[in-house]
Amino acid sequence: MASGHTPRKLSPGRRGKPVSSPSQQVVRLGFGFAVSQALRVVIELGIPDLLASGGHSVEDLAAAAKVDAEPLYRVMRLLAPEGVFTEIRPRHFGLTEVGAALRSDRPGPRDFIRMINSEAYLAFEQLLHSVRTGKPAFDKVFGSPRFDWLSAHPEQAALFQRAMVALSQGGNEAVADAYDFGRYTRVVDVGGGHGQLLSAILARNPHLSGVLFDLPSGVAAARQGAGGDLPRTDFVAGDFFEGVSVGDIYVIKRVIHDWDDERAELILRRCREAMPTHGRVLVAETLVPPGDEPDQIKTLDVVMLAVTGGLERTEAQYARLFAGAGLKLERVIGTRAPISILEASPA
Ligand SMILES: C[S@@+](CC[C@H](N)C(=O)[O-])C[C@H]1O[C@@H](n2cnc3c(N)ncnc32)[C@H](O)[C@@H]1O
Repeated sequence: MASGHTPRKLSPGRRGKPVSSPSQQVVRLGFGFAVSQALRVVIELGIPDLLASGGHSVEDLAAAAKVDAEPLYRVMRLLAPEGVFTEIRPRHFGLTEVGAALRSDRPGPRDFIRMINSEAYLAFEQLLHSVRTGKPAFDKVFGSPRFDWLSAHPEQAALFQRAMVALSQGGNEAVADAYDFGRYTRVVDVGGGHGQLLSAILARNPHLSGVLFDLPSGVAAARQGAGGDLPRTDFVAGDFFEGVSVGDIYVIKRVIHDWDDERAELILRRCREAMPTHGRVLVAETLVPPGDEPDQIKTLDVVMLAVTGGLERTEAQYARLFAGAGLKLERVIGTRAPISILEASPA
């Protein structure tokens, strides 16, 4: 006998195709890894660069990239409906505006895609371990914490730093513009990486001197100008858990989110110990909004869980961190980019 449950008819969707059922939608979510790795493949083969001057047949592209045409076609056919390429006519592809962001001659998420699909991708296979234990899957898979591992793998560390530059997408300039550095003399960029933020701050504030503080790998690239000009700057290779350089204004951008509360608090305490009473700490991070609106920061949060053991936080969570480090959250300053400045003073 019929159960009385009539399957709902699917209404036509885009291009006259039926809107997918819940189970089809779940399957599509589950295939996310395929799109991510396919993006990495076309980047490694330089396909976006080959298409920069116009469309090409997949045979031409395969010959130029020295790969087999048929599997390349299948990978590009996967990425075309995702908006990366257009199939102009059968087996001929062109680059879309989205795909053009993967070209090597312009800033874009290219290095981020390569970086996230390497160690982070492998660590994610053990995400369940992180959820069970609260500990980073990365450590289980690679045998050491993320930043220790990067220190021992200079090529991957360099890729990581370039990916950070790509991820910033105007965030450094936005932070430098949003804060009045007028009354300070020496800015310390803690975990400053390539030095893009410090470069933007120093360019706008000729009265300031700067300190780029990072692990040896970060400092080396910054010294060579990887993140822009760094005049009036001391380059200090050190461990921010041990102590940081002296200055009266500290900037810490996208660093605190790498660490659990105990470690994050320790970094902030090291700043508090080094600064004068009129000094300030500026933590630049993306705040997790309340509710279930889609927001990329929620993805990054789970990446932090699996890879570094860190987390993305709400304003209240940052206020608690500051309090634990002998600091007081004074105000939150929005910027034109999806990143906020949390200003703290000695408590
Ligand atoms: C997510 S990156 C952020 C870089 C930069 N602030 C930005 O916004 O692009 C974190 C930085 O912290 C640095 N770092 C990690 N552990 C460190 C440590 N123990 N001492 C100093 N720097 C460290 C890394 O080398 C890296 O440059």
